[in-house]
Amino acid sequence: MNAIVPITEFQAGATSAIGRADAPAIQIERLTKRFPGVAGAVLDDVSLTIDRGDIYGIIGRSGAGKSTLVRCINALERPSAGRVLVSGREITNLYGRALRTARRDIGMIFQHFNVLSSSTVAGNVALPFKVAGLSRAEIARRIPPLLELVGLAHKADAYPSELSGGQKQRVGIARALALNPSVLLCDEATSALDPETTEQILALLRDINRKLGLTIVLITHEMHVVRDIATRVAVLDHGRLVEEGATFDVLAFPKSRVARSFLSGLVAHELPPVVASQLLPEPVAESDPVLRIVFTGEAAHEPIVAALVTQFQLQPNILHGRIDYVAERPLGVLTLVAGGAGAKLPDLLSYLASLGLTVEVIGHAIRSAVTRRHSAAR
Ligand SMILES: Nc1ncnc2c1ncn2[C@@H]1O[C@H](COP(=O)(O)OP(=O)(O)OP(=O)(O)O)[C@@H](O)[C@H]1O
Ligand SMILES: [Mg+2]
Repeated sequence: MNAIVPITEFQAGATSAIGRADAPAIQIERLTKRFPGVAGAVLDDVSLTIDRGDIYGIIGRSGAGKSTLVRCINALERPSAGRVLVSGREITNLYGRALRTARRDIGMIFQHFNVLSSSTVAGNVALPFKVAGLSRAEIARRIPPLLELVGLAHKADAYPSELSGGQKQRVGIARALALNPSVLLCDEATSALDPETTEQILALLRDINRKLGLTIVLITHEMHVVRDIATRVAVLDHGRLVEEGATFDVLAFPKSRVARSFLSGLVAHELPPVVASQLLPEPVAESDPVLRIVFTGEAAHEPIVAALVTQFQLQPNILHGRIDYVAERPLGVLTLVAGGAGAKLPDLLSYLASLGLTVEVIGHAIRSAVTRRHSAAR
């Protein structure tokens, strides 16, 4: 039987209960899952690697296969093809006692908390210890540091009916961490919470990630959750992995249409339909190019609208835009009509690229009356 170390003795990067400490936390290799009677694959040839210490976001619309994927990680579901390795050891072919031991390395929390209403907070947190066969004295010794870690030391004797949603999720987190796992799976863990409580739970998860070196897999349909704490993100769509990368890169430069539309509430990648419907695919006699400019890092601080006016004598007209901060780095997308660009367009594009901005001509707009007047006056 594996030794169970108390949470306070946990060292970041310590050897996990199973597998190798130098292997990635989770490797998903060509995972396919079909359910009897369900047409098509619910997960279709998904491969991804989650490194130790990552907070890894998996996003996708309802029915994309997120929960199924996370249930394959702890072998609550068996894949139809492919395999999952946790700390370098294949979990998909473990059963019985070997599987139970392996699962100690993987904690899980859920949207609806799954706390036992008939037990106190301390009683709920004691459950995994009881299942693991620890003595009463040992259990009594292990509970206080866990409650301390999740900020519930003062609620040890309270029943779930006396707790807020955020406090119930803290109980869920304490219980999931009891056996000192190296991975914590969170399936929509903040989806039932109000925005302020969500922030507090995310702060707790980030704190635990840093203090314990715990790898966190965060399944969510809430993009802001990913923006706020995930180091990397994968996007699932109809069971397929359509995008994967560092969170900032996926937010700044989404490659797939589904990721772009998913991110539209956070980053202004997509134009509002009323604006998009007015864009022309090709230039006409009285049109100006419409530029989509992505600002990242230092380039976000360049006064580019002023430069367009003074250096290029343009009449820029902003159609849509937003600047946000991701991992404390500015990220903005601005869509504007480069009024009066005409033959200056190539120079203008080179100038913007030289500032480190990513620019794309996404269409053309009929020249505004103001630009027409301005051009005629010159
Ligand atoms: N045990 C099952 N038997 C049959 N079909 C299933 C089973 N579990 C999931 N599915 C189907 O697989 C698809 C993916 O479900 P899953 O729960 O993984 O989606 P999800 O991305 O977590 O969605 P949500 O955001 O709504 O939680 C759905 O079409 C669902 O109906
Ligand atoms: Mg789900």
